[in-house]
Amino acid sequence: MKNPLFTWLENQVDSFPASAPEKPATSARGFILHYSRPFYPLIAAGLVLSVVIAIIEVRLFAYVGSLVDTLTSADRATFWDGNKSTLLFYAALAAIALPFLNFLADAIENQGMRGNFAMRIRWLAHRYMLRQSMEFFQNEFAGRVATKVMQAALGVRDTVLKLTQVMTWVLVYLLSAIASFAANDWRLTLPLLLWLGGYLLAMRFFVPRLGKLSEKQADMRSMVTGRVVDSYTNIPTVKLFAHASREDGYAKEGMQWMLDSVYASMRVSTWMNTTLNTLNGLLITSTAALATWLWYTNAITVGAIAFAVGLVYRMQGMSHWMIWEMAGLFEDIGVVKDGVDTIAREQSVTDKEGAAPLKVTKGEILFDKVRFNYGKPEVVGALPAIDNLKLRIAPGEKVGLVGRSGAGKSTLASLLLRFYDVEGGRIVIDGQDISSVTQESLRGLIGVVTQARPSSTARSRTTSSTASPTPRWERSKQRPARRIPTNSSPA
Ligand SMILES: Nc1ncnc2c1ncn2[C@@H]1O[C@H](COP(=O)(O)OP(=O)(O)OP(=O)(O)O)[C@@H](O)[C@H]1O
Ligand SMILES: [Mg+2]
Repeated sequence: MKNPLFTWLENQVDSFPASAPEKPATSARGFILHYSRPFYPLIAAGLVLSVVIAIIEVRLFAYVGSLVDTLTSADRATFWDGNKSTLLFYAALAAIALPFLNFLADAIENQGMRGNFAMRIRWLAHRYMLRQSMEFFQNEFAGRVATKVMQAALGVRDTVLKLTQVMTWVLVYLLSAIASFAANDWRLTLPLLLWLGGYLLAMRFFVPRLGKLSEKQADMRSMVTGRVVDSYTNIPTVKLFAHASREDGYAKEGMQWMLDSVYASMRVSTWMNTTLNTLNGLLITSTAALATWLWYTNAITVGAIAFAVGLVYRMQGMSHWMIWEMAGLFEDIGVVKDGVDTIAREQSVTDKEGAAPLKVTKGEILFDKVRFNYGKPEVVGALPAIDNLKLRIAPGEKVGLVGRSGAGKSTLASLLLRFYDVEGGRIVIDGQDISSVTQESLRGLIGVVTQARPSSTARSRTTSSTASPTPRWERSKQRPARRIPTNSSPA
């Protein structure tokens, strides 16, 4: 469906900014703010709408109360003429203004934020990850990094939306309810305040427990999936050794643990619902009883009873939804914290400020007293991977490196490509230290034939460091490239 408002909202924030991705802050709060910045205007608009909608809703309940009062004493003959404008005003508020404001709030959230917010974070975080050093990926599981990039994006978005839309809505709703009750008679606020105290205690008790249990359940789920996938993947072995019954037991054990975690979490869920239902029952009964008594003592009108009971009924529905939102919020913050540890890490191999592209004029390579040991501390009696290496490769010269496994051939090639920074000395190409030129220009000028198997050509193409329309192997034909010798055994 084409809708100019939707299109406009969808284009408010660019999901794929071209600028270099910056390192996000290392605290969950800073991380969330870092990625939320471009959405501030939309977040603010959504926040204002949430506040306005909550106030209008409470206002409508209050109007129902005063309408009841008007009706009890009204004369049928003059009622319409006397109340026409107020009636029409509130009718318009309920039938036109409120749905329209809700539409705007939904459009801002769904069209303006849901998609773009998460995708923009993924795009920025993914590009930041791509520029992480080799060392980073050697110490992290690729799948884990990918999951964090995908999940942290949702965590940030949902935390922001829950805090700015849901929590503000509830807060304003509660405050206006209390204010409207107090406007009738301050004593009318007592059941609501007591209920609120009980509700907060219930929240404090149940939310952390639910959070822990749902975490446990998620762990169990991935454990069971792992076991099941494991059996399918190794099906020839399972069949060959007639292990089907042993596999049954292996899966059942996992499923039983998972079922136990489901039981535990469902028990808490039932107790939580019961607690809330009891609190809500007490709230409705005590409000109705108190309102009736206040009416009896002439403190409030019949309309105030209708208003108060109607509003607390609405609170009852909200209470269940709110506690789940709260549990979800803590879960989201947990996901963000988890992602921050991986995503917001400093890049170790970076371009220097104002680094120029490498200019190859002759093709001379100089290893000047190079020392490197993968960041490992010096051990007495053990030599580092590369120790005080002096090597000059003249322009046009062909050099083959020969050595036993572990001698440091691949390490040398990695250093020339600046996958790692040297720990001592320097590497110079045509008079330029490779640590002071851009990494992209350096790697773009070096042709590499990896030990990749034929089936992985697609993969090596997608991982080529420079985005060029010409495939790398073709470019290395055009340019006299230095082939770095590697051992012939497939790695
Ligand atoms: N990522 C790494 N982290 C830590 N140490 C490493 C790493 N890669 C290699 N090394 C160590 O550095 C030394 C040199 O290894 P390198 O891979 O360069 O040898 P190689 O000459 O290429 O061997 P091969 O002929 O088996 O390919 C070895 O002691 C090796 O254990
Ligand atoms: Mg090697």
